[in-house]
Amino acid sequence: KNVGILGVPITIGQPNKGVDLGPDAIRHAGLYTVLQNLKAVYQDYGNVQIENKESQTTDHVSNLKNLDEIASANELAANKVSEIIEDGQFPLILGGDHSMAIGTIAGVQKHYNNLGVIWYDAHADFNTEETSPSGNIHGMSLAVNLGMGHEKLTSILQNNPKIKPENVIIIGARSIDSGERELIKEKGIKVYTAHEVEQQGIESIIKETLNDLSTRTDGIHLSFDVDSLDPIYVPGTGTPVEGGLSIRESHYALRLLNESEKIVSAEFVEVNPLLDVKNQTAERTVELIGSLLGERYI
Ligand code: ARG
Ligand code: MN
Ligand code: MN
Ligand code: MN
Repeated sequence: KNVGILGVPITIGQPNKGVDLGPDAIRHAGLYTVLQNLKAVYQDYGNVQIENKESQTTDHVSNLKNLDEIASANELAANKVSEIIEDGQFPLILGGDHSMAIGTIAGVQKHYNNLGVIWYDAHADFNTEETSPSGNIHGMSLAVNLGMGHEKLTSILQNNPKIKPENVIIIGARSIDSGERELIKEKGIKVYTAHEVEQQGIESIIKETLNDLSTRTDGIHLSFDVDSLDPIYVPGTGTPVEGGLSIRESHYALRLLNESEKIVSAEFVEVNPLLDVKNQTAERTVELIGSLLGERYI
């Protein structure tokens, strides 16, 4: 497999400084070594050039924070991701806050008629400007991909909506705002909460997910928010939620996704080195990437 690495150092989708350093922290935590050990052919496309403005702007009408800046950053990211696919490479995208998924999925979706998305996250990121308690766009990116939210966000690369509700599966959720909950029900989105992971087990959930998405989609994008994991493993992230998934079950989930050969692109987001302890969040992220790309214990 040819891997095309892209950093999206966006931070203005949320309030914490430092998540723009995520892509480079992941590289420094040994990403290339893992790829070399896997004998993967790879090319690093560097980072998308994003101006993360120090002072925050709030759209007066909608209450969206940094709307115009986020829209243009995502446009850039979308075009880069699309270019990587045109080069025949598997986009491995490093974040950056999760607002970047507006652009990354737009870029991937250009190449698929029926893209599936696995949203592995403590959150649903299913707010709109009407439901959001924070105005932070990283909590809205999945909704935007389904066509809900501000026109400046949904219109990126024209095609809107990008994803059909039945082609999205959320895994690991345990912090969903009340407005999001209603929208999720309204759209009929399949959610495996952290409780379901406990009860049903990750193997069965991933197999069900793959069976379900494989019948309808022509490719699956993995959007992996590191806060899906319990904060004991990943202290370096801006919106940690206790009661998270374990490192062991997450490695296993990624291994099953690797074996399925259905994943066509992936992003690992919300790594924040300024909140981290000894870069361990970036190091674990690199190990998780290894599992997705085929690393085995023996
Ligand atoms: N639900 C909260 C909000 O909308 C938190 C979102 C966290 N999102 C994330 N990608 N970490 O503000
Ligand atoms: Mn460097
Ligand atoms: Mn999250
Ligand atoms: Mn998220």
